[in-house]
Amino acid sequence: MKLRLFIIFFSCCFVNASIAQVNPFAISEAGLDFVTGQALFEKTWVSAPSSTKASDGLGPLYNARSCAQCHFEAGRGTLADGLNFRINSDFLGQQIQSSAISGLPAEAQVDISYSSIVEKLPDSTEVVLKIPRYFFTNVQTESGKAGIGQTEIEQAEIIEFSPRFAPALFGVGLLETIPLTELLAKEDPEDLNDDGISGKAGSGRYGWKADVINLEEQTGQALSLDLGISSELFPNPFGDCTQLQHYCLSRPNGASRQDQNLEIGPPAFASLLFFIRNIPLPIVNVDNIYSAGKVVFENIGCQSCHQSGYMQGTVNPYSDLLLHDMGDALADTSDDELSHEWRTPPLWGLSAYQQIDEQYYLHDGRATSLLEAILWHGGEAERSKQAFKALSTTEREDLINFLQSI
Ligand code: HEC
Ligand code: HEC
Repeated sequence: MKLRLFIIFFSCCFVNASIAQVNPFAISEAGLDFVTGQALFEKTWVSAPSSTKASDGLGPLYNARSCAQCHFEAGRGTLADGLNFRINSDFLGQQIQSSAISGLPAEAQVDISYSSIVEKLPDSTEVVLKIPRYFFTNVQTESGKAGIGQTEIEQAEIIEFSPRFAPALFGVGLLETIPLTELLAKEDPEDLNDDGISGKAGSGRYGWKADVINLEEQTGQALSLDLGISSELFPNPFGDCTQLQHYCLSRPNGASRQDQNLEIGPPAFASLLFFIRNIPLPIVNVDNIYSAGKVVFENIGCQSCHQSGYMQGTVNPYSDLLLHDMGDALADTSDDELSHEWRTPPLWGLSAYQQIDEQYYLHDGRATSLLEAILWHGGEAERSKQAFKALSTTEREDLINFLQSI
């Protein structure tokens, strides 16, 4: 896999003006925080107790050992590293942790298999759309807890879950600067303008369900759920171990030392947050933005959800950060009223991926090209997708070229 990434992080200050004229970086003053934060983002955590005290506290249950393992170079994940499963279980907690510290079994393993359907476009182009199915094996159950680490792990089915693929983090700090009023102005939950699109605000602006309010909460949650690291906001050193997972709660943790009660203290957390807030967008040459395709993008209604022009046109993420019903084919199987709803993902930064062999798009990474990602659109985006399918070959290519250039 060859990455055309880009981020020598110090080049952050030259964020392309067409995408983000806001320059959140004051690198000369804040350079140290940025570098320290980046190091924490990339740092491989180990389980406690360890001789490297500053890096211990991983787990007991976890999904990865570092932020960067899922957000490689602060970008999107891969299916092997970067696909989480949210659940709502008294026993297993909010998320399936597929790894655990030595001596403790993980909560479950996940296998993915695909079936496929073929979409045929008017010019006879055939696009294979892969439909994922998930199989959870070695699922920890309550009755299996006595023999933890031995052989009593039962097979249990997990039926209600919501897959979540690790998104790219470029520009996430800019999203935080958009005033809430500007986002709410784009809401249309009753579809009063009758365009078939009823965007509504989630409880926050981050995450695929727009349910995380800000980057501080998102960072604390990632530390807790994905790595099992406690911080001021999420002080439980056992992360997503529930009260019913006694075997998990009896493990040593990085907060049991006398010298600290959080696995990541406030100063380190602040540096990590500073880094997250200042992850730059890939550098895009304005002259290379494919304007013919931008016109097509606007004409067929993509920009109804993938919106730009916030803060007097200085922040252009191509997202309304609102939730949309995207149809049955993309819905998750959770018992949640939002099972069909997904936050419009920002499209800025797509250019970073176009030279990479393996690409993954959508909330579960099922699409391996931009074309596939668009053809999966349904629900509120059905009209726009149909308009896309009716494009001439040239218009379609222009549109894809545009996406690849932003
Ligand atoms: C195991 C994989 C994994 C690890 C490790 C991980 N993340 Fe994530 N990250 C995700 C997934 C999946 C999402 C989407 C979550 C959702 O939609 O509910 C996400 C979302 C985010 C977002 C929100 C992006 C947006 O546009 O909404 C931020 C910020 C973030 N992660 C930061 C971090 C930080 C900081 C760390 C390390 C402390 C970290 N992540 C570790 C998988 C991971
Ligand atoms: C009704 C709102 C809406 C419309 C209209 C819409 N999209 Fe989307 N788009 C979304 C949502 C929501 C997702 C995420 C769906 C998911 O992951 O299940 C998405 C995902 C994408 C992705 C994948 C991004 C990623 O990071 O994985 C691309 C590319 C994309 N849209 C392009 C387009 C194009 C091109 C059009 C016009 C043909 C369009 N969209 C029309 C809401 C919309």
